[in-house]
Amino acid sequence: MSDPESPSPSPSPSPSPFPFPSPSPFTPRHGHAPGAWPLLGHLPHLATRPLAFLDSLPGHGDVVRVRMGTRTAHVVSHPALVRRVLTDRGSFDRSGVLYEKVRALLGDGLATCPNAEHRAQRRALQPAFHHSHMDRYAAVMTAETQVLTGRWRPGAVVDVTEEAFRLTTAVAVRAMFSAGITPRAAEELREALEVLLRGVYTRVVAPAVDHVPSPARRRYRRALARWRTGVAAIVAAYRAAGVDHGDALSLLLAVRDEHGRALSDAELGDQVATLVLAGAETTSSVVAWALRLLADHPEAAARLHGELETVLAGRPVTPEDLPRLPYTGDVVREVLRLYPPAWAVARTTTRTTELAGRALPPGSTVICCLYLLHRRRELFPDAARFDPGRWTAGEVPRDAWLPFGIGATKCVGDVFGTVEATLALAAIASRWRLTPVSPRPPRPVPRIVLSPGPQPMRLARR
Ligand code: HEM
Repeated sequence: MSDPESPSPSPSPSPSPFPFPSPSPFTPRHGHAPGAWPLLGHLPHLATRPLAFLDSLPGHGDVVRVRMGTRTAHVVSHPALVRRVLTDRGSFDRSGVLYEKVRALLGDGLATCPNAEHRAQRRALQPAFHHSHMDRYAAVMTAETQVLTGRWRPGAVVDVTEEAFRLTTAVAVRAMFSAGITPRAAEELREALEVLLRGVYTRVVAPAVDHVPSPARRRYRRALARWRTGVAAIVAAYRAAGVDHGDALSLLLAVRDEHGRALSDAELGDQVATLVLAGAETTSSVVAWALRLLADHPEAAARLHGELETVLAGRPVTPEDLPRLPYTGDVVREVLRLYPPAWAVARTTTRTTELAGRALPPGSTVICCLYLLHRRRELFPDAARFDPGRWTAGEVPRDAWLPFGIGATKCVGDVFGTVEATLALAAIASRWRLTPVSPRPPRPVPRIVLSPGPQPMRLARR
């Protein structure tokens, strides 16, 4: 990632391993990515070597114009500009083709609604994430991790990416609806959700799949119908019982807007689907990346196991242990830095807006690339290296680590996701040794979430 035109950091008299105060002082530059094909633009690069292409962008500027077919996007990786795009809601909105497609599939949930609807929706959902509910959610997380690893056998090979996804979708279903749902119904909903989450991505990038009859289309439609009838039945049961079960659905049922109106059944279904969509694959990818990176970095793994042995002494992890597991927390933070699941956060300009000295007309697509921001060599020493130790060495500048975004739309589930990933990692790493079947490095798959792709690993008891 060479960046010949950007000023190189001057030597600092301070002993700090990071020479810049925060926020970052380097002046943002605008540039464009070379190598566009006629008509296709940079799509061939994005399709064949997406991360290498992304990694090359900061060499051309801090805001880089990229062509995707006939559309143009401006990819931002400068900390001050990422902050500006995500917090200047007068100039940037969650509108445009991508959001329209997701909304068409999932309805208008909190994670995709435009600015005009955001405040009311956020106020409605925020209480479900109040810290007073975390204990109950954490109990679901530890119970579901035990169910998952209870199925594991020494010597077997599991795909940790799939297993982590199974865990987080199960936790999501259980945290949303704790009552009136049998284990079988919960598993059916979880399965439907899995098909839906995979299918939404396919439909966003290739909407044509919905016009061609195929087994995959039938499976997606069946899953959608099952999800809708399943959620409707649970909502009806909750309404009829009129009892506060203390879970996310009970909280959503109690929500009233400023006119005293409750959410309709369709709105409830959309919000539940959005929460699960936003929370399940993001969190599972952190767990999967952590397990793989630890297997590839024995020193970090030894330090983690040392901490887990000392603190847990062989007993199962509980949420109360988390403050005494700082290194485990640093592993999760470092994974979120190197492989931020929400690697690209899109916005559309709503008026002519200046960015790095260029005036962007209204309707321009701007992509905040958190993956690139977290790897800027101007911000992080040895930026591409997995090094959880950098968190205690003071090598992480404030404002340069934004895996949950920033401002009014900052992730509502940041604590939920972090606690879930940390508990799952502690529970798995304290009991199991996982060895990759293939020594080949993972090939990250940047889709809606930056997933490590399939990761078959062999299990051994610790
Ligand atoms: C490690 C896991 C997670 C990561 C990295 C992550 C990342 C993010 C990011 C970057 C945003 C900001 C998007 C924007 O500004 O447009 C966001 C928003 C959101 N996230 Fe998360 N998320 C995670 C887990 C979760 C969980 C567990 C939930 C729910 C249970 C959740 C629900 C949401 C929702 C509803 C929003 C929209 C918030 C709003 O617009 O007010 N996320 N997330």
